[in-house]
Amino acid sequence: MTEATAPTPEVLEAVQRDFSGQLADAGRDVDELQRIRSAFFGPKGRLTLLLKSVGQLPPEARRDAGRLTNEVKRSLEGALMEVLDATAAEAREKELRKGRLDLSLPGRRAIPKGSLHPVTQINNEMVDIFARMGFDVAGGPEVETDWHNFGALNFPDDHPARDMQDTFFVRPPDDRPAGSLVLRTHTSPVQIRAMLAQGAPIRIVAPGRVYRCDSDPTHSPMFHQIEGLWVDEGVSMAHLRGVLTGFINALFGERGVRLRPSFFPFVEPGVEVDLECVFCDGAGCNVCKQTGWMEILGAGMVHPNVLKSCGIDAEKYTGFAFGLGIDRVAMLRWAIDDLAHMFRSDARFLSQIRGI
Ligand code: DAH
Repeated sequence: MTEATAPTPEVLEAVQRDFSGQLADAGRDVDELQRIRSAFFGPKGRLTLLLKSVGQLPPEARRDAGRLTNEVKRSLEGALMEVLDATAAEAREKELRKGRLDLSLPGRRAIPKGSLHPVTQINNEMVDIFARMGFDVAGGPEVETDWHNFGALNFPDDHPARDMQDTFFVRPPDDRPAGSLVLRTHTSPVQIRAMLAQGAPIRIVAPGRVYRCDSDPTHSPMFHQIEGLWVDEGVSMAHLRGVLTGFINALFGERGVRLRPSFFPFVEPGVEVDLECVFCDGAGCNVCKQTGWMEILGAGMVHPNVLKSCGIDAEKYTGFAFGLGIDRVAMLRWAIDDLAHMFRSDARFLSQIRGI
């Protein structure tokens, strides 16, 4: 509806009456209140248009008409805003009464704290134990040359461990195995890198990822090992036994440790080290297949060929080396039954394994 007439007092009074009627009818209906707002005060609202029409009046009439129209507009607008404010306050009050928001409740606890992955926890603990025995930490690349991963470790060219079935080749062998690049299949190549860089005497541990083309419930294509190496004048099998027994006792508590003869190309003699079963304390159970023992690591006296590959005088120096799987130790430590848990990153699993 447009006002044909100029904003005379009569017209304004009529607008006022109309407005009051509509406002009373609207009650607390917010949509209706908003409609009234735009019908009277919007860009094409009745009062907006009336104000505009003041300009068309003869100059003598403009002042009074303008003042009156503005007064009416302000007062009506004020009345409408009051109703809108009251309506909003009522709605808020109603929402609060529903009781869903209890302002007296304490706030939520801090965001749940994360924890280190079990492999990282065990790794850190192992590195600490060896650090206390004077071992430094060394590292090396995960993509290795055939020479560091095999050749310098005294693996013959035709050794089965170089086979496609175990090794991921980054650059496959052609006629010369020495030219290939592999994902390291163990942490032992770090021995070579450390000895080449540092010579003897040397005492290091080297934790890291290793890769083998193998995947079943007890094997993952990527897993973690920690390597150890101690080369000095007069280092003997007795040192090997002493250090490894100390390590196992620090990690698993006082328990029996035994060495069995075994073979690895880079050590002579080579041994496998068992500890008394952590589940039955040596009595015999399913986990240890009734033997009372579980194998935990490979070790041995560094082969003279390995020392020679690294330019170390094998007449003057001797040493021992060892390597073990970190994931397996973490599984023993927390009685985890499935290796796959270690690599799934499932927060429900990880949150149970914390704090050692
Ligand atoms: N590199 C071996 C493996 O991956 C483990 C190992 C055995 C490391 C004997 C050694 C060692 O240093 O002396 O199975």
